[in-house]
Amino acid sequence: MRCLYLAGACGSIGTQTLDIVRENPSEFKVIGMSVGRNKELAVRLIEEFHPEIVCFRENYLYELSYTPKIVVGDAGLLELASYSKYEDEVFVNALVGMSGLMPTISAIKAHKTIALANKETLVAGGDIVKEYVKKYNVALVPIDSEHSAILQCLQGESHKEIKRLIITASGGSFRNKTRDELKGVTKEAALKHPNWSMGAKITIDSATMMNKGFEVIEAHHLFDVPYEQIDTILHPQSIVHSMVEYKDGTIKAELGVSDMHTPISYALRYPHHNVQESKQLDLFGLKLDFMELSKDRFPCLGYAYYAASRGGIYPAVLNAANEAAVKLFLNDKIEFLEIERIIEKEIKDDKYMEIPYTLENVVSVSLSLMKEILSRYGVD
Ligand SMILES: NC(=O)c1ccc[n+]([C@@H]2O[C@H](COP(=O)([O-])OP(=O)(O)OC[C@H]3O[C@@H](n4cnc5c(N)ncnc54)[C@H](OP(=O)(O)O)[C@@H]3O)[C@@H](O)[C@H]2O)c1
Repeated sequence: MRCLYLAGACGSIGTQTLDIVRENPSEFKVIGMSVGRNKELAVRLIEEFHPEIVCFRENYLYELSYTPKIVVGDAGLLELASYSKYEDEVFVNALVGMSGLMPTISAIKAHKTIALANKETLVAGGDIVKEYVKKYNVALVPIDSEHSAILQCLQGESHKEIKRLIITASGGSFRNKTRDELKGVTKEAALKHPNWSMGAKITIDSATMMNKGFEVIEAHHLFDVPYEQIDTILHPQSIVHSMVEYKDGTIKAELGVSDMHTPISYALRYPHHNVQESKQLDLFGLKLDFMELSKDRFPCLGYAYYAASRGGIYPAVLNAANEAAVKLFLNDKIEFLEIERIIEKEIKDDKYMEIPYTLENVVSVSLSLMKEILSRYGVD
């Protein structure tokens, strides 16, 4: 029995993780969960899975039929992550944004396996998180479909034989639009992803292509591959979830339907696949297109490589500027193209060069930058 602590249970990844638990009660048990602002859903999930510890995002009054240990807010997330009683414990991080970083570190310190969906953790604090992973000797398994694909393509292979990782991108909601046509696009249109149903932030990140930039940074940390050996490619069908090219010309790819249950299930069972049959890919009539992913068309992808090349605290600055800009866009405070401009200004600013890359600085610089950008537009 694997004991799960699920942070972000009410979100897109969180609820899909719970689908897997629901279908496999003899394999997984939810010991802890953090729930979001949707009170009705939160109560329903708590009553169904009966976790021992629950972290509420806000201090509402909840009527429950039993008395779990209750913790609240950011401090509560850390308590949830460090609560530990059982042998085989997995911390599933399905939070969105910077709020995922510190709980990941607390869970590592509690010797839990990390099943990581929260991309901001590795973007902002990649090298630091990896040091903790090494020090506490825990496994960190990606949930994201692209990294899950790469992980599978690397099984049994030797690192020195890798030529490059090739991360595929669907192109997001505006993949067929020119840059001119992006002027004045609406939030509603940006939130309509053609292939995947996901939370709001990652859907906007997909439309700007920052999501792919984040995945490049995550892949660098997860697989110890230099940035020069990580490429991205446009693949509108989202059937090939990513590939590894070897020096002898072999390309290994992982293919499947666009359903996050599959990579979540793999992360929970790593290195094993689910033995029960689920949605199968119909190979007949399969159409696979691959095209160049242009950094002129999608500047945010270039910004991610640029921030990574500056190193130190710059990926955290990239992440924080993006998080604030996306929030502003979702709050109708800025236009879609303003997201890019806000990010570009920050990552090109030399003032962050002097700031040492420590966990404390990653957190404090990120939080103050987000606050500062939001306050320019009167948002908390
Ligand atoms: N969705 C996907 O298919 C997908 C695929 C790959 C990777 N990811 C990554 O996985 C992560 C989660 O994505 P998602 O799409 O599942 O997001 P989501 O649907 O927005 O869910 C995130 C959940 O985290 C909760 N949360 C956020 N900040 C919190 C905080 N400070 N304290 C407590 N709870 C907090 C939210 O609470 P509320 O309910 O109150 O908002 C929400 O329930 C992101 O980093 C995303 O990039 C997602």
